[in-house]
Amino acid sequence: MKLLTAFSLALFNVPTATTASYTPPSSNYYRCLTDTEASAISTALANGETIDLFPSKAQSDQSSYWEVEYHGTYKILRNTQPDVNTTYLLYQCGLDAPVVEEKVDGIFHVPFTGGLVVTDTTQIPFIEILNRRSQIVAFAVPENLISSPCLVEDIIPAGKEDGTITFLPLYNDTALDSFLKEHNRTLAFGGPWDENLTMKNKVIISSVAESPALAAEQGRDVNQAIFEWLEVYGAFFNEEHLANETVEETRARYDCHTENAMIVAEERRREMLEEDKSRLPLVLWAYHMQDYNGTDIGWDVGECPNYYCTYASNCMVNILNSTEGSVDYYGYTYMSDDEFLEFGKDADVWIYPSSNWNSLVTQKADYLSDFKSVQNMEVYDYQLSGESAWFEQRMAEYDNVLLDFCEVAKRDIDPTHGRKWFRNVYIEGVGSLGACSDPDEPYMPRVTECLKLEENGGGADSYSSSGYTSLGKTLVAWLLMSLVSISVLW
Ligand SMILES: *[C@@H]1O[C@H](CO)[C@@H](O)[C@H](O)[C@H]1NC(C)=O
Ligand SMILES: *[C@@H]1O[C@H](CO)[C@@H](O)[C@H](O)[C@H]1NC(C)=O
Ligand SMILES: *[C@@H]1O[C@H](CO)[C@@H](O)[C@H](O)[C@H]1NC(C)=O
Ligand SMILES: *[C@@H]1O[C@H](CO)[C@@H](O)[C@H](O)[C@H]1NC(C)=O
Ligand SMILES: *[C@@H]1O[C@H](CO)[C@@H](O)[C@H](O)[C@H]1NC(C)=O
Ligand SMILES: *[C@@H]1O[C@H](CO)[C@@H](O)[C@H](O)[C@H]1NC(C)=O
Ligand SMILES: *[C@@H]1O[C@H](CO)[C@@H](O)[C@H](O)[C@H]1NC(C)=O
Repeated sequence: MKLLTAFSLALFNVPTATTASYTPPSSNYYRCLTDTEASAISTALANGETIDLFPSKAQSDQSSYWEVEYHGTYKILRNTQPDVNTTYLLYQCGLDAPVVEEKVDGIFHVPFTGGLVVTDTTQIPFIEILNRRSQIVAFAVPENLISSPCLVEDIIPAGKEDGTITFLPLYNDTALDSFLKEHNRTLAFGGPWDENLTMKNKVIISSVAESPALAAEQGRDVNQAIFEWLEVYGAFFNEEHLANETVEETRARYDCHTENAMIVAEERRREMLEEDKSRLPLVLWAYHMQDYNGTDIGWDVGECPNYYCTYASNCMVNILNSTEGSVDYYGYTYMSDDEFLEFGKDADVWIYPSSNWNSLVTQKADYLSDFKSVQNMEVYDYQLSGESAWFEQRMAEYDNVLLDFCEVAKRDIDPTHGRKWFRNVYIEGVGSLGACSDPDEPYMPRVTECLKLEENGGGADSYSSSGYTSLGKTLVAWLLMSLVSISVLW
């Protein structure tokens, strides 16, 4: 009976509806709704119509720690990292904030047009890819750790001068909280290790907490999982479409490079002497740790699973990894010099994930000369794009990191790829990210497109001295095809 009444009322309402009626949008709104649009939607909702203002949606595929639920006029974003467990309500701007039953830790209109506070440099490329650089109003990170050329050269100097950009002290919740209270149309992106996870107007982003162990266990890829957080940022700006497209394109390149690495590894294997065929290149991932006043602590060595272990597996090489070590420093384990020499001396390649190689070499030249990688000058740090860029930008370019890793590990997949991150400490200088071309343009990750190599059955090529036989063939095929299409055009 009730249903029937509602139904008749709905029918009755149709002819009396005013001029505006709800038309489902074909893409998410990049603006607030007008009053007319908003009232048409309220009417449609009251009539029981199904509304979907967000045809483009975010969906986690590789990430473990986020989900977005769509409810027509609003979204519920959950950070599901066990130690975080926060929920945010994002509603279409121009409508009133809906009342929801569950407890939420923050309410934001979308697209969010207020100011943004950065509390970790890893947040920067995500904001820049979505072209929201100009919305940044504060940084709770030291200025000298920021690498983005457009922020460093344009936005920050201009903003400091006209007072539109503030630098807040690092890890100081009191200072951040009072800034957010003073600037109440501002959203801070926080991190999973923040002391206060439920500060008003702060959203916890757990990209860097994505668990390599969980990913390995579930057959997912932790590098992809981290980058997929772009879709979470996207949800705040109704940019789900752009975010998904960028995530998918990056994933496709990464997957394609990974498949090529298998083919290259197989080619290298065929070139090897019979007795060496079971031996894969061996990578050492380790750096030397000192305390604040320069006293030796020990060697921090790679532990698997971890993101760099995923790179090693994808490049079809082995990585030395260990949790052992006799040095204990504030609960962390390090190897002594003797232990580390025994552990790492036979590695073919040494990736040194720190920026202090030069000072180390002056202190320990003799000791280091016993390492095979040092003898062969196969030592790389992460400074080819600058001293801090690795921490800020590499997660947004994880496909380039893969190519770099494979190349230094003797699995050069693509000879056209110019290394971006790993710097040979003997022959290359510390690099930079280059200059900002236009601060109003989105950040475009540096891309090496993937040309799929063809699988090669072996035989004639087995003893080829060229590592790029397959690539050569593909290139020739491609050139021929282009010639054909050109002649057709002519
Ligand atoms: C993301 O893009 C891919 C490829 O274009 C598409 O197949 C997929 O459905 C999109 N995902 C969502 C959640 O829209
Ligand atoms: C997450 O928080 C909600 C309340 O906000 C609670 O009901 C739920 O049990 C929590 N889940 C976990 C896994 O802690
Ligand atoms: C945090 O910042 C406030 C100013 O907002 C300052 O008074 C306080 O001393 C700072 N706390 C620490 C631990 O530095
Ligand atoms: C934001 O601050 C302004 C004053 O600067 C105040 O009028 C307004 O009520 C505040 N809004 C909220 C939601 O606290
Ligand atoms: C977190 O910050 C909010 C203010 O934004 C405050 O009300 C709350 O008590 C803080 N929680 C903790 C655990 O400090
Ligand atoms: C070095 O720093 C530690 C604290 O990290 C301190 O205990 C020690 O006295 C310092 N040593 C020297 C020689 O300054
Ligand atoms: C980590 O080390 C173990 C031996 O300690 C080795 O079996 C394993 O393959 C290494 N992991 C990777 C990803 O190479």
